[in-house]
This record gives sequence, structure tokens and C-alpha cells, in this order.
Amino acid sequence: MYPKPADNISETEKVIKDMIQQRENGTDLVLVILKKDTLEFLGICEVGAINTDTPELGIWIKKSDHGNGFGKEAIYALKDWVDKNLEYKYLSYPVDKRNLPSRKIAESLGGRVFREFQKINMSQNLLDELEFRIYK
Ligand SMILES: CC(C)(COP(=O)(O)OP(=O)(O)OC[C@H]1O[C@@H](n2cnc3c(N)ncnc32)[C@H](O)[C@@H]1OP(=O)(O)O)[C@@H](O)C(=O)NCCC(=O)NCCS
Repeated sequence: MYPKPADNISETEKVIKDMIQQRENGTDLVLVILKKDTLEFLGICEVGAINTDTPELGIWIKKSDHGNGFGKEAIYALKDWVDKNLEYKYLSYPVDKRNLPSRKIAESLGGRVFREFQKINMSQNLLDELEFRIYK
């Protein structure tokens, strides 16, 4: 997914409805990340394409909470769930080249860059992407 900030609340509601539908269809699992002690919303993480042998990991932490280890902790928990519940060949993890924290997370899971490509996201920005592949 390459989301953009919502213009209004109905756009947000549609995104959430689509995520629920994807879960019910068995294609994507999107989870909310909450702070353990206060249950404050921190972000979301996702494993997409779970009906294939190359599922895709994704993570978004809200800006005010970047750099506190939450992204890494959430992805490790998600990968643990995936390893216990899905059969797969490898996990795909696309990141923007300039996104150092995300690259570090992929590398710490043993991910290796498999390909580079360019992509226009939903905010119409051109991204230089690296696709990491993470094997079990
Ligand atoms: C990418 C993202 C999920 C990282 O989550 P985070 O909670 O900020 O990152 P963490 O605190 O868990 O740090 C992960 C690693 O990056 C390092 N890091 C954190 N911020 C960094 C920075 N600004 N520059 C370089 N390294 C950084 C950490 O030290 C850690 O490395 P380590 O395990 O070797 O110590 C978060 O920044 C985010 O949601 N960004 C916007 C959306 C996005 O880019 N999603 C990823 C799509 S693939």
C-alpha cells in the first residue's frame, strides 16, 4: 500500500472498511499498534497478500512516536505471527531508499535487497523503492 493522508473523515472510514473487507476476504491482515500501558494509538502494521506464497509486510508509526523502537517491535511481532500461521517462500518488504529506519528494520530481520524500482504513491510523489526479501 502507498497511502496518502485523508482529506476528510469519510475517506478514513472507507479505508478502514476496505481493510476489514480485505481481512474477511483472507487477502490482507491490518492490525492497530497500541502503546502497552496507555493503549494510545501508535500506528498500524499489515501483512498483505497472505493468500500467496510471497506476503508483504508494511508498517506506519505516527510521526510523534518515531524513533522509540515501536516500529521494530511491531514488525518483529507481526513476523512472529506470520512464521507461526502462514506458509511462505519469502516476505516482501518494499521501502523508499531514503527511509533509513525502515531499511534497518528489514535488514535486522535478515532481509536482502532483491530489486530497485520507481513508484508514484497516492500523494503523487515519486519514490525510489527497494524491495527487500526476507526468508524464514
Ligand atoms: C519506518 C518506521 C515504521 C520506523 O519506525 P520507528 O518506530 O520510527 O523505528 P524504530 O525506532 O523501531 O527504529 C528502527 C531502526 O532504525 C533506527 N532509526 C530510527 N530512526 C532513525 C533515523 N532517523 N535515522 C537512522 N536510523 C534511525 C533505529 O535506531 C533502529 O535501528 P536499530 O535497531 O539498529 O537500533 C516509521 O518511521 C514510520 O512509520 N515512517 C512512516 C511510514 C513508513 O515509512 N513506513 C514504512 C514503509 S516500508
